[in-house]
Amino acid sequence: MAFLRAKKDRGFRSNRGCGAAILPVRGGLHAGGTGMEASTHLQTRGAILYVVDMQTFKALVVETADPYTAQVRPASMDELPPGDVLVRVAYSSLNYKDGLAITGAGKVVRSFPMVPGIDLAGTVLESASPDYKPGDEVILTGWGLGERHWGGLAELARVRAEWLVPLPQGLTLQQAMGIGTAGFTAMLAVMALEAHAIGKTKEVLVTGAAGGVGSLATALLAHLGYRVVASTGRMAEEGYLKSLGAAEILERAVLAAPPKPLESERFGGAVDTVGGAVLAGVLPRMAYGGSVAACGNAGGVKLETTVFPFILRGVNLLGIDSVMCPKEKRLLAWQRLAHELPRPLLEATMQTASLEEVPELAQAILKGQVRGRVVVRLA
Ligand SMILES: NC(=O)c1ccc[n+]([C@@H]2O[C@H](COP(=O)([O-])OP(=O)(O)OC[C@H]3O[C@@H](n4cnc5c(N)ncnc54)[C@H](OP(=O)(O)O)[C@@H]3O)[C@@H](O)[C@H]2O)c1
Repeated sequence: MAFLRAKKDRGFRSNRGCGAAILPVRGGLHAGGTGMEASTHLQTRGAILYVVDMQTFKALVVETADPYTAQVRPASMDELPPGDVLVRVAYSSLNYKDGLAITGAGKVVRSFPMVPGIDLAGTVLESASPDYKPGDEVILTGWGLGERHWGGLAELARVRAEWLVPLPQGLTLQQAMGIGTAGFTAMLAVMALEAHAIGKTKEVLVTGAAGGVGSLATALLAHLGYRVVASTGRMAEEGYLKSLGAAEILERAVLAAPPKPLESERFGGAVDTVGGAVLAGVLPRMAYGGSVAACGNAGGVKLETTVFPFILRGVNLLGIDSVMCPKEKRLLAWQRLAHELPRPLLEATMQTASLEEVPELAQAILKGQVRGRVVVRLA
């Protein structure tokens, strides 16, 4: 989307792209300068009235199931799905599920063409909902975004107001996407463990620790005062994981090896992002009354285990879902993320990429080659 975006009292700055313009107006309306009249939106920021005039915007689109290709192309306003809020997307992010959606490696996309991207953060341009007005900064994660409904990997998104969460005070839009679904899920896992009173006398395990959910779960739990053991298949990331607060690194292979029905009691809590053989190795290592928050399947969907951890040690296996998480819990999790995730730790997990770089990064995330979080810049 080509924006002529005015900064307060500083004239126009031109940004090349597709066909939209934001011009500041004092004492009257001015046309956008692109000659395109497809759609005009009024937006107020401070004392300045902005006219947003747009026809096309840039989007990563998966056109068809066969052949399955994702490419960046101009999209038109008419292609946007129905919804009561139009958002100018500033940032999106890359999650494991986005990797599946962009490459077609998993059956994530439910209709075509589809803009993937399960996360977005941006500014409301238009709203038919009383809950939001132009200029509001908002976050959206889950609810089928990028699966059933055009997602965050585009300059514009039209969505349902009830899916949105206001950007919590203290977070920037970029930081919010540094968190994204991964950090939100990490916080839901922490909240589930707390609700099961895991306590701080025993260690807490995080698996897939160098990934997005794993990095943020490690940072959150360490900051909250737990002794975190970070399990990874990438021992080269030991320094990174320790910088996030991990007290000890455990090689993934230890957990993935076939376990005895019960191993020594070690962990009071665990956040598992891997599933499969790794989760099967976590359960027998849980201490009496311990809890495992299971949120991922990066290492497999099958779980072969015995009932012994459950019936002899009272271990709890807690399911975590971020997609359909109810609004009240979402608001609480985002408030906690805004207050309890130290910014330097968040920044340490983040790298920023362009929309054009996303298809390649999507391949990398599925191979377990992405460290921490990828934020995708759209504004
Ligand atoms: N339940 C929910 O609502 C929810 C929300 C978000 C994510 N998830 C799921 O959580 C998982 C992590 O998501 P993410 O976005 O954090 O992905 P990610 O950044 O790719 O992290 C996944 C990590 O898992 C480990 N891993 C990757 N491939 C593996 C394999 N074949 N065997 C064992 N370990 C492997 C790697 O960690 P190491 O290199 O440290 O070993 C990798 O960094 C995914 O399965 C995702 O679908 C679920």
